Amino acid sequence: MKAFNHRPRLDLLRKNDCSVENQELRRQVQDLKAELARFKDEGGLPNYRELFERSADANLIIDGDTFVDCNDATVKMLRYATREELLQTHPSELSPEFQPDGRLSYEKANDMMAIAFAKGSHRFEWSHQRADGEVFPVEVLLTSVPDGERIVLHVVWREITERKRLEEELRHAQKMEAVGKLAGGIAHDFNNILVAIMGYAELLKEGVAGDPDMVSDTEEIVRASEKAATLTAQLLAFSRKQDLKPEVIDLGAVVGSLTGMIQRLIGEDVEMILETPAVILPVKVDPGQLEQVILNVVANARDAMSDGGTLTIKATRGVRQGGSGVDLPKGCYVSLKFTDTGAGMNAEVIARAFEPFFTTKEPGRGTGLGLSSVYGIIKQSGGDVRIVSHEGRGTTLEILLPESSEPLAESGDPDVLAVDPTPGGEHILVVEDDAAAGRLITKTLEKEGYRVTVANNGQEALDLAENLGWSFDLLLTDVIMPVMNGPELAGMLRRRIPGLSALFMSGYTDEVLERQGFSLEDVDLLRKPFSPSRLLNRVRAFLNRRKT
Ligand SMILES: Nc1ncnc2c1ncn2[C@@H]1O[C@H](COP(=O)(O)OP(=O)(O)OP(=O)(O)O)[C@@H](O)[C@H]1O
Ligand SMILES: [Mg+2]
Repeated sequence: MKAFNHRPRLDLLRKNDCSVENQELRRQVQDLKAELARFKDEGGLPNYRELFERSADANLIIDGDTFVDCNDATVKMLRYATREELLQTHPSELSPEFQPDGRLSYEKANDMMAIAFAKGSHRFEWSHQRADGEVFPVEVLLTSVPDGERIVLHVVWREITERKRLEEELRHAQKMEAVGKLAGGIAHDFNNILVAIMGYAELLKEGVAGDPDMVSDTEEIVRASEKAATLTAQLLAFSRKQDLKPEVIDLGAVVGSLTGMIQRLIGEDVEMILETPAVILPVKVDPGQLEQVILNVVANARDAMSDGGTLTIKATRGVRQGGSGVDLPKGCYVSLKFTDTGAGMNAEVIARAFEPFFTTKEPGRGTGLGLSSVYGIIKQSGGDVRIVSHEGRGTTLEILLPESSEPLAESGDPDVLAVDPTPGGEHILVVEDDAAAGRLITKTLEKEGYRVTVANNGQEALDLAENLGWSFDLLLTDVIMPVMNGPELAGMLRRRIPGLSALFMSGYTDEVLERQGFSLEDVDLLRKPFSPSRLLNRVRAFLNRRKT
């Protein structure tokens, strides 16, 4: 597009010199008019007034502290009825009293204008207020424009509500990610410690069987460590590092099957309305974890309705077009909404509700891990959670999950093994780099009649195996160990003992193991923390299976 440079001629005109250059001036004015007309004919920019008018950004001219002019976009943005009404308003009325940084708007505005006058232009973010009181963020560009003796300000406002929302979402996601990593790390190390605490407490209990006081004391230790294990499980859920066992299930059916439990949980003062469609709503989730999610959300609704109310649970199917602040790909999804008529939440509580350990409940009433585990489980399942709530009016928590196109899973629990508990006195080589855990495993197995040889690392295990004449029944080894890892050790031993059975133990999650290059498909894994009885169960089941 052709540039339209009028400045030198206008300068000439401004000089208003009618003697020497009078003729020249007239010629220039004629030229200017002709060029403007030509410019229009060629489809160029019509004129500057029109540019101002047509801009999608709000454009204004301010002279001192009065509005001289503004375009329609300004009127629309600020939701005024007419341009005249807006132009009569004092500029200070268009901002809230304070800016987000806590400064008084009028003071800060003066500073911003001073910078624009000094530098020629200044760009910054600002909070404005519409005629209806809504405060919204804009990016402002102030440009000082000399107009004869005076200098006026050309102001451009661009609304950045959407950009701010995305920035906030990103910041929130990053925070959740960081807290998740921390929580996951602590939970993992804690799990290892719990193996020792739980295990020794159980052994202790057997040792003091004749003394009822001691038995009850040790039972307290077991109970406390079981509570701690639930906590670490919730933290792992939040950090999205859980080992989920997803199955394709009908969400409506799962919710339906839980109504009895939900009803008991919410009590008699709360009415429950359940709305599920006749069609199947297939989603791929871990059914046990989904149950946990539902019960956590229902428990919150109950706590919010201490004086009674209504809890509506509604499952629907929908199609997402993208946008609207939900982190879910486009396509078909299933929605599960829990609406209560309880106390509701303010904006600050909504913003922090998914944080682990964030609770507004009295000490001892809530740990603040309910919604964080909900968040982790749903995110790990490819879905998203959102909260709409108003203080005093109630809350809707919506869970969105992508609709699965796979067939529904057969019911049945493959995890429950039918175990013959009879010990067989087999010889087990235990490799565990954590000495306390190694001692506990040895003690547990020996008490059950197994013969145990224990090694601290892979090399020691190879030496011991050689001493044993390469003859034992089972290798029970940690997966991740320094120098030589569990599967490498098993591989080396199998060169000498073809067909050797190996059972692996790990407190790490599938994701970590897979990242370290372990394929979990063809290994048998015993997850930490485990109680002595679970260890014995798995070892026995494993040995029995290998026999057949
Ligand atoms: N339905 C609801 N109505 C009102 N506030 C809620 C609702 N659900 C959650 N909240 C708020 O969010 C906070 C965090 O919930 P979350 O479930 O994570 O923890 P909690 O219920 O306090 O403790 P926990 O679930 O571990 O026992 C609650 O303390 C409460 O302030
Ligand atoms: Mg809760």
